[in-house]
Amino acid sequence: MDGSTSFVLLIYLAKVEKVKQEYSEERRSFLRQSFGIMGFGFVSFAFLNQSCEQDEDPIVSSGSVDINLNEGKYTTLLAVGGTVKQLFERKNNLFPLIITRTEEDTFSVISSRCTHQDYEIDLPVDKDGVLVTTCQKHGAQYLADGGKVIEQPKPSGTATDLDTFEYEFNAESNVLTIHF
Ligand code: FES
Repeated sequence: MDGSTSFVLLIYLAKVEKVKQEYSEERRSFLRQSFGIMGFGFVSFAFLNQSCEQDEDPIVSSGSVDINLNEGKYTTLLAVGGTVKQLFERKNNLFPLIITRTEEDTFSVISSRCTHQDYEIDLPVDKDGVLVTTCQKHGAQYLADGGKVIEQPKPSGTATDLDTFEYEFNAESNVLTIHF
């Protein structure tokens, strides 16, 4: 092999090595992107799967929750006549409860789901000395104490009494336990 042939051969081998390096880098880049997409897909799938699992069972009609009347919005319930509306996660068909302190050691725990057409009713207000909750959809009204319907929907329709919930109250700790 003469000098010029060796030179051409060296250039050829250098080019081959360069092409191999470029191919290797492209391949690594491709794999990085692919695994990145796969990772994103996996995380998305896990999230959606979890969401779907929750959506499959959004309502839990059993169990109980404790609320401490010394905390947050519940301090309203420290006084007789205090009333709050509160949604408890995955409970009561995703309608809040309306909790009212009716006596020193007595409460009313009712659903805020209007029995006419499932509209969410308001927080009770004082109406001539009685706490009354109203459904803004067709005007049905209920007593905050016990959920009895006192005004039917307009212009027509029938509402029945609201759902009520059992509870226990610990006067020492000021914890109200609501059973679903
Ligand atoms: S949905 Fe409540 S009164 Fe009609």
